[in-house]
Amino acid sequence: ATRRPLVAANWKMAGSLQLAQELIQKFSRISGGSPDVVLCPPSVYLDNIQRKLEAASQTLSGCSLHLGGQNLSHQEFGAYTGEISGGMLKEFGCKYVIIGHSERRRMYGETSDMVAEKFAMAQKMGLTPILCVGESLAARQANRTFEVLAGELDAVLDKVGIMAFDNAVLAYEPLWAIGTGKSATPEQAQEVHAYLRQRLSALSPYEGEKIRILYGGSVKPSNAADLFTQPDVDGGLVGGASLNASEFVTLCRIAS
Ligand code: G3H
Repeated sequence: ATRRPLVAANWKMAGSLQLAQELIQKFSRISGGSPDVVLCPPSVYLDNIQRKLEAASQTLSGCSLHLGGQNLSHQEFGAYTGEISGGMLKEFGCKYVIIGHSERRRMYGETSDMVAEKFAMAQKMGLTPILCVGESLAARQANRTFEVLAGELDAVLDKVGIMAFDNAVLAYEPLWAIGTGKSATPEQAQEVHAYLRQRLSALSPYEGEKIRILYGGSVKPSNAADLFTQPDVDGGLVGGASLNASEFVTLCRIAS
């Protein structure tokens, strides 16, 4: 495939400005052959990290380093205490935004409808959504993996249509692999990625072939090569290992 690999760091509610500094220093030493890299720190850090990236732009010219949000409001602006709009993310340098992470779905009650609205809002605000889908362990054991994934994907497709996936990234994150240290096997990941791609291709072969599908769930240097070399795996969405600058840079090298 000719898809350019992408590795995204989801710091979740962790990380620090110090970590950003370390990452930028390590990326400064990379020359050539970098994947697209997206840092998704807690939003309060964006302003400072954007400045750090600008200050280091000369030495970072060998990599394609971008910022992303971890979530956005489905509203454009207004009386929504505690929420952050897509426009604000954009103003503070974000190019991407994670949508529908399982932690948002499970812990903060985001329904598939809300996820679809957020996807549409992200694009309206000029951001590229990284749409997360994934099945629970119970669903996998009940052989309902594809059914669950199809439901999550179709909820968005029904709202925005296949052409909106021209500017989107998809992430497969099996819930049982997130933060557990137990990643999906390369075969399990490939099987699901091929299924998701085929589902999009059925609507538009071009979009299906073009979209990047990331794997997320206990990605680390020791398993990344086997996962990232699967034909339908185009990179990773990394949680825990993105909080260690050396490990994360290693993952990016593996993906390139
Ligand atoms: O968004 C990232 C994922 O939830 C994966 O997290 O790498 O800590 O398993 P993890």
